Amino acid sequence: MDAINWSELTFGYLKTDYNVRSHYRDGKWSDPEISDSEFLNLHIASSCLHYGQEAFEGLKAFRGKDGKIRIFRMRDNALRMQASARGVMMAEFPVELFEKAVVEAVKRNERFVPPYESGASLYVRPLLIGTSAQVGVKPAREYTFVVFVTPVGPYFKEGFKTTPVVIYREYDRAAPLGTGTIKVGGNYAASLVAGEKAHENGYSAVLYLDAREKKYIDECGPANFFGIKNNTYITPQSTSILPSITNKSLIQLAEDEGLSVERRSIPIEELGTFEEAGMCGTAAVISPIQRVDDVAENKSYVFSADGKPGVICEKLYQKLRAIQYGDAPDNYGWVTVL
Ligand code: PLP
Ligand code: COI
Repeated sequence: MDAINWSELTFGYLKTDYNVRSHYRDGKWSDPEISDSEFLNLHIASSCLHYGQEAFEGLKAFRGKDGKIRIFRMRDNALRMQASARGVMMAEFPVELFEKAVVEAVKRNERFVPPYESGASLYVRPLLIGTSAQVGVKPAREYTFVVFVTPVGPYFKEGFKTTPVVIYREYDRAAPLGTGTIKVGGNYAASLVAGEKAHENGYSAVLYLDAREKKYIDECGPANFFGIKNNTYITPQSTSILPSITNKSLIQLAEDEGLSVERRSIPIEELGTFEEAGMCGTAAVISPIQRVDDVAENKSYVFSADGKPGVICEKLYQKLRAIQYGDAPDNYGWVTVL
């Protein structure tokens, strides 16, 4: 392969050597098998193509200073993919097979795990789709699970820098009792119009409000939201946001740092009281928020006048990265060392 400039990587797709696949037929999952093809052979009436029987995951593998590869919290991703499968009536992929497939995919593509110094990582993308032919709206009988990997740099091109986000009150991402809590493709399709508009206007993401009342903060495009004030980490409780594994980790690390943690509805006006705010997710890691513009209300909430990340965002970011890269002890069993 051409030499990869690891530290210049963006969050994109780069072909790697292998992916791992498993198929569900007659009520059983096949043992994960290795493929070197980047393509799937799909029936034109597959339920994933027409009725959105699709779920995906995102997790990362990191190379430590010791050269070892560490996969972060893959069991949580396996469990969340099962929740997603239940949410759109797909066959659940067993946790043990998920872990086996992820480990295999990472090992087989070891040469694509970026070196420690680059600050890049290997993004792991599991995918689950309904594949049997269906014209009536009902769940498929057959499913395919695939996991591929690709080396990535920062999701927001700025890396660990503050960026502005925007509230567009005319768009929702997910309904209050809809699919917002699971990781299905339809949620992302529903976010594209607002997301592209945000990018064209210089924002890194859309900050969604709760769809019912437009009073509370939900989440940011591809990441959860958190705010910091009075030594407290505050993050939304909502029936339409994804339970972020990064957020769950940061909650633990915030508690370890002696912060209080509140998981509750966050009224939009409360933005004015936060000392810091950030987005968090596997791809986003922590992306500190410079300001939130509420366009329709002609209001801006500024968290960083000088553009620098706040001290607590910085501390949590360093703590999380240290565990992921193996520089700090893995006190909670989050890391699988290969
Ligand atoms: N919210 C949404 C909508 C996401 O797509 C993601 C990314 O997976 C997150 C939050 C963050 O979740 P996690 O930390 O598990 O990656
Ligand atoms: C992730 O953080 O893993 C995501 O899935 C976010 C985005 C790339 C969809």
